[in-house]
Amino acid sequence: MTSLTRTFTAGFLAAALFTMLGIPARGADAGGDGLDQRIEELLGRMTLEEKLGQMTLLTSDWDRTGPSIKPNYLEGIRKGTVGAVFNAYTAAYTRKLQKIAVEESRLGIPLLFGYDVIHGHRTIFPIPLGEAASFDLKAIEGSARIAATEAAAEGLHWTFAPMADIARDARWGRIAEGAGEEVYLASEITRSRVRGFQGTDLSRPDTILACAKHFAAYGAAQAGRDYHTVDLSPMTLHQVYLPPFRAALDAGVATFMTAFNELNGIPCTGSGYLLSDLLRQEWGFTGFVVTDCTSINEMVAHGFARDLRHAGELAIEAGVDMDMQGSVFADHGPGLVADGTIEQAGIDEAVRRVLRLKGQLGLFDDPYRYSDPAREKAVVMSPAHLAAARDLAAKSIVLLRNEGSLLPLSDSGPTLAVVGPLADGRRHMIGSWSGAGDFEKCRTVLESIQDRTAGRVKIVHAPGCDIDSEDRSRFAEALAAAAEAEVVVAVMGESYDMSGEAASRSDIGLPGVQLQLLRELHATGKPVVLVLLSGRPLAIPWAATHVPSILEAWFPGTMGGPAIADVLFGDVNPSGKLPVTFPRAVGQVPIFLAVKNTGRPFHPEKPDEKYVSRYLDVPNDPLFPFGHGLSYTTFTYSPPRLSSEQIGPGDSLRVEFDVTNSGDRAGVEVAQLYLRDLVGSVTRPLLELKRFKRFQIEPGQRHTVRFTLDPEDLAFVHPDLTLRAEPGEFRVLVGPGSGRLEGATFRLVAGDVRRGAYQVFELGPLHR
Ligand code: BGC
Repeated sequence: MTSLTRTFTAGFLAAALFTMLGIPARGADAGGDGLDQRIEELLGRMTLEEKLGQMTLLTSDWDRTGPSIKPNYLEGIRKGTVGAVFNAYTAAYTRKLQKIAVEESRLGIPLLFGYDVIHGHRTIFPIPLGEAASFDLKAIEGSARIAATEAAAEGLHWTFAPMADIARDARWGRIAEGAGEEVYLASEITRSRVRGFQGTDLSRPDTILACAKHFAAYGAAQAGRDYHTVDLSPMTLHQVYLPPFRAALDAGVATFMTAFNELNGIPCTGSGYLLSDLLRQEWGFTGFVVTDCTSINEMVAHGFARDLRHAGELAIEAGVDMDMQGSVFADHGPGLVADGTIEQAGIDEAVRRVLRLKGQLGLFDDPYRYSDPAREKAVVMSPAHLAAARDLAAKSIVLLRNEGSLLPLSDSGPTLAVVGPLADGRRHMIGSWSGAGDFEKCRTVLESIQDRTAGRVKIVHAPGCDIDSEDRSRFAEALAAAAEAEVVVAVMGESYDMSGEAASRSDIGLPGVQLQLLRELHATGKPVVLVLLSGRPLAIPWAATHVPSILEAWFPGTMGGPAIADVLFGDVNPSGKLPVTFPRAVGQVPIFLAVKNTGRPFHPEKPDEKYVSRYLDVPNDPLFPFGHGLSYTTFTYSPPRLSSEQIGPGDSLRVEFDVTNSGDRAGVEVAQLYLRDLVGSVTRPLLELKRFKRFQIEPGQRHTVRFTLDPEDLAFVHPDLTLRAEPGEFRVLVGPGSGRLEGATFRLVAGDVRRGAYQVFELGPLHR
């Protein structure tokens, strides 16, 4: 661009931009009419290097979320060889970089700014696993909407979220970033998050592109070790790991991110099956596919590519459109095209996909429309956003145990000991992947308890130990605090960076000497409330049988402190339910709801039976099952009533049951419906979640819950990868969690079912 252009105002520049590019102005249309033609005209003027630039995403030097391979992003922006930048935000900084792209690069194509807006941008919500515990789809969509509003005002166009990976191994640190272990819940939540980020109209300046990641099966890493090998049967891949991605696609997700892992021998970034055959051909995805950070380069270490050039070839052939931080496309693309290894047409198609989304965001009309200092000031951490964060944080808290109704606490004293290494740990409140969140803006649990009791209760505090060290020298202080108090609140768990990326653990108990401190606190005879902060299920068998009250608060976000106080003092009656199973011991992992039976099941009524499927040293069942979560009131469930005991192919089944608040305070319950298909031509899990409903219910009141099960709820993936239901007996189970269920049985019948013959009902395309 010339110096003359630099004197234009942003608005005039925007209007002039397309004219200067030889592209007709777009008017009010947001990405539809005329955009494709404009893109073709632009493509016709681009050099190969500029095209590869649109396929290149580089990090700014503001933040580092992985290996840094090519730091000089500024030079690339100027040369038009970088089309997208991540880890750069604020209206001012994105404007500055955009100005370089628009005014100094040859064609002035606007940059796309991406960032990991995972559970909030500035206003941080609970970690995604915590949000999932709310089972509140509306609130989760609202959290993504708020995140998008704040991020967009700071110049961001694109979030690398939601993570749609099912995770059934608590050792894997990234279990914190997803919606847990169950297919139905994770699919619903993924859909809600996509809707929240993208809204209904991408051309609005407060909506951003979402990215379904990590495609695919990243959560099934062997031994829970991050980036590790994944080896899955195609049936399990399609039954368990793909449906949340399909849900993202159905919700209109604009982009997909490849996964670091190999899947059945092929790194996902080089998988033509995943990226082309399945995603584009079968599912009809039209957005663009970005790699995970340097995952093209990593195909060399996987032993799949000979060198970086070969890795680039494999990635392009598989269907990758954008290279995150690897610089492989930029460095090797020209050579690959020159010698005919890669066709120009494939490159053009990838560039079209990227430019189309830039156009749909309205960046060709006004490249600065997202970087808006006034909007940034108005929306970032607004009172409404903070209130929503507090609400969702309180909803995410799970009351795991409450013997003798120790909780809620009285706020009239006299003395409370608030101990444990996380009681005053400000940094930990917002967890990992906390984006542009500022932990300094958080109130800690200790401060929030002090705020809530406002001098009416004497609070004595001592951390007692570190999160993760062997030092017991400060136990005495915490024990002295306990001695002075009527009740002890122990805030314990993991540090914020013990979960998230590259944060797998082989021991998932309380780190360091926290358990020893907890035991000594318990030994004082003072009642103990354990507040857990963690990014994964923790194996806490001793606490689960000795500590009367336990709250799982995850990493609850900017407003997490006040939300914990809301629950501790009963201003909010807890309603969270576990989106993941809590093991008794790491040796049980993976342990999850949808396990199958064996040919030699363990019978609890015959505990000494030999030759059955069991451990010698730990029970088979979990510490806390999926869906578990108590309230300060009690709920009584009736058995389910079915609209019919027998249904035919294509029929729906109506299920209703009553939930009565049998306690003495109002509460919110999440009623859950599970299904078991007793016999199949492929063995079926013991339980699968199929429906849930969250509702408020007054003391003494009865609420009738009604669900409809559709034919696809009865279907499962067969060896030929078709989705079909089979006739036979099904059990419907309802309750407050998978550990306490009431059931009824129905049959799915075919016209003429011969004994032993599997008649099947086609349901059409997979995951529909
Ligand atoms: C992570 C992605 C993330 C990306 C960009 C990678 O290391 O796996 O989830 O979006 O970095 O920060």
